[in-house]
Amino acid sequence: MNIATRKTDVLVSVHDARLHYRVGGAFAAMRGKSTVVKAVDGVTFDIRRGESVGLLGESGCGKTSMGRLLLKLEETTGGSIHFDGEELGKVQRKGLKTFRSRAQLIFQNPFDAINPRFSIRATLSEPLENAGIPRGEREGRIIKALELVRLPEPAQFLDRYPHQLSGGQLQRVVMARALILQPEFVVADEPVSMLDVSVRAGVLNVFRDVRDRLGLTAIYISHDLALVRYVCERTIVMYLGRIMEDGPTEDIVHQPLHPYTKALVAAVPVPNPDQSHDPLPIGRGAPDPRNPPSGCVFRDRCPSAHARCAAEVPQPRQVGTRTVACHLF
Ligand SMILES: Nc1ncnc2c1ncn2[C@@H]1O[C@H](COP(=O)(O)OP(=O)(O)OP(=O)(O)O)[C@@H](O)[C@H]1O
Ligand SMILES: [Mg+2]
Repeated sequence: MNIATRKTDVLVSVHDARLHYRVGGAFAAMRGKSTVVKAVDGVTFDIRRGESVGLLGESGCGKTSMGRLLLKLEETTGGSIHFDGEELGKVQRKGLKTFRSRAQLIFQNPFDAINPRFSIRATLSEPLENAGIPRGEREGRIIKALELVRLPEPAQFLDRYPHQLSGGQLQRVVMARALILQPEFVVADEPVSMLDVSVRAGVLNVFRDVRDRLGLTAIYISHDLALVRYVCERTIVMYLGRIMEDGPTEDIVHQPLHPYTKALVAAVPVPNPDQSHDPLPIGRGAPDPRNPPSGCVFRDRCPSAHARCAAEVPQPRQVGTRTVACHLF
């Protein structure tokens, strides 16, 4: 089986994936504290080619960890992830180089992705050089990538440095860098969260436009349901390393099933000021991820929790268009 040629409808297949970090070491263990954070804990889903999937949840629920597993920037500590039929855990050397050109990360913070001492030309040359693109072809590819992300008159940016660009322009350069090797799959990790609200819509529109033009398969990570709704046809709701609900975004917004999803939907600002909405009815802050509740990890904040929720981990079930992990279903 060749990673570059196999074709099925599913591009990414995640089965019971786990990413458990060791934290605290001997000192924590001596004080009776757990030394494991289950950042991703038994997650299963598929992504079809061309699909845009939002990964939604509060800070610390494991979104970035999941994204890093999908890009093989971390290795699973359990379960498996297949990309185009190939198990990522087994991809090495040449296969890894091919995978790295096919799957890319768009960073949250442009300064994580871009060296402030590199000009824009040098920033965008680097991935081309690593991929063995001849020197003579690089400038043309750079200009094309900058045009793709709608940076006007791209040639004028080539000799500038990151601090000479606005936040919105810089995030477009970050996108251009991720797209310059023409990947099929991108993970965008909160790509607009560091930007001024006034330029977010412009950058998001570029992201949507590029995705559609290139037919990209995309994971869009955010804690903001409104942004996920703007970008993704499907949403996966995570809580403490697990999937609570997975389904078409509009169904999730109009009729959330899981009590956690209900709380997230209730917290989205309502555009009509006459229409009241509940604040996040579950209170602020998830529990310590080193000591999650037994059974359902959401149960200690859940308004509908009952005895079974403490005793048994709810398994995902198909409910209409959705998959829900909750004992109420
Ligand atoms: N390298 C690491 N070592 C130990 N623990 C980690 C590491 N990276 C993340 N974690 C822990 O794993 C959990 C999930 O973190 P992650 O960054 O995936 O969350 P997130 O949903 O992306 O949060 P945010 O919205 O704040 O970006 C957190 O409890 C975090 O502290
Ligand atoms: Mg994150």
